[in-house]
Amino acid sequence: MNQPHGGVLINRFANKDKLSFDNIALSIELDDDQLSEVKNIAVGTYSPLNGYMNKDDFESVLEKARLTNGVPWSVPVFLPVSKVDYRCIKVGGQVSLRYKGKDIALMEVSDKFTFDAEKYVKSVYGTTDPNHPGVAMINSLSTYVIGGEIWVYEELPSKYLEFDLPPQKTRELFAEKGWNTVVGFQTRNAAHRAHEFIQKMCLEFVDGLFINPIIGKKKSGDFTDEVILAVYKMLVRDFYPANSTAIGVYSSRMHYAGPKEAIFHAIVRKNFGCTHFIVGRDHAGVGDYYDKFAAHRIFDEFEDIGIVPMRVSNAFFDKKSDMYTTQKASPFGPEHWISPSGTEVRRLIKEKNYKDLKYILRPEVLEEILKFKEPFVL
Ligand code: ADX
Repeated sequence: MNQPHGGVLINRFANKDKLSFDNIALSIELDDDQLSEVKNIAVGTYSPLNGYMNKDDFESVLEKARLTNGVPWSVPVFLPVSKVDYRCIKVGGQVSLRYKGKDIALMEVSDKFTFDAEKYVKSVYGTTDPNHPGVAMINSLSTYVIGGEIWVYEELPSKYLEFDLPPQKTRELFAEKGWNTVVGFQTRNAAHRAHEFIQKMCLEFVDGLFINPIIGKKKSGDFTDEVILAVYKMLVRDFYPANSTAIGVYSSRMHYAGPKEAIFHAIVRKNFGCTHFIVGRDHAGVGDYYDKFAAHRIFDEFEDIGIVPMRVSNAFFDKKSDMYTTQKASPFGPEHWISPSGTEVRRLIKEKNYKDLKYILRPEVLEEILKFKEPFVL
């Protein structure tokens, strides 16, 4: 099994009695995605981070895609606050983190700073286009930020308990199953046939497959979390080998940051214990913002990342070969390909074009999707 990123699996849970709350400036109410972030820090999904980034790490990530200590890290983890709160918060003081009116965590503030949103979006998303969903998200945030370590002292709510396995648990699970090598699969979609094809192709080279859908805020038109999980639950039960497949969720918002997010996704899966990570065509991409294989190439700059990227070219049904195959392996041109993509699947479902869907989706998957009145994020 793989070592956590930075060497140690972080655990930021503490007994409330052991903490001192003598310097709290104010409470900050977290939204669902911020709660996930706090949880990801506390359970070690974001190891080696033990809190929100200080300015030096934040800037270093934007400039070099590395923390100040040189460890690869490509998307800042930061806590924006209102200008009014920012003025009240002092470096060296504390802030209470609250969810739905209940205090859950303590933050020891070690830095406060503002950031340049344009510099941020150029670095992380490679564009300043406000139509890019990640850019739009950053543009909507306050640029006043606080940094510092956190301690969580309450049990955190979990929406999908059955699939909510923190890194400590996935590591135990992989060990129980006797897997030395595990390939992680990131997804924000209900599985189409190309997803299944590349997962099973990569499983051929390792002991286990860890299917790890991202659960959290997504852009309008994407599949809802409920649909993604229902589909995978059925698929893994009925079409995957039980002794070499596991599912767990990664609770986080999608950034749609293409190559930079591919690096971030790989780090997260390393923390879950994966030794390998699938990077397919246009990983974490949106629209035409990224070259389809930019997420493959970026790993060349991070040979020290500590997880093996399994770069997969475009997978599709090749009518002339009469089989699922990839761009690398097919001698025939695109005129013979039926290429599944999340966008294409959503389009055909919306048009009720079920005939063309059969090369793209298993009928059982379509059936599962159609059980939902509204399978897409509005
Ligand atoms: S993503 O935003 O999470 O990347 P998606 O869930 O569609 O979107 O993709 C999950 C993984 O499968 C990513 O690594 C992506 O590159 C890969 N992938 C999706 N479709 C294909 C395809 N047709 N061929 C090759 N890889 C693919």
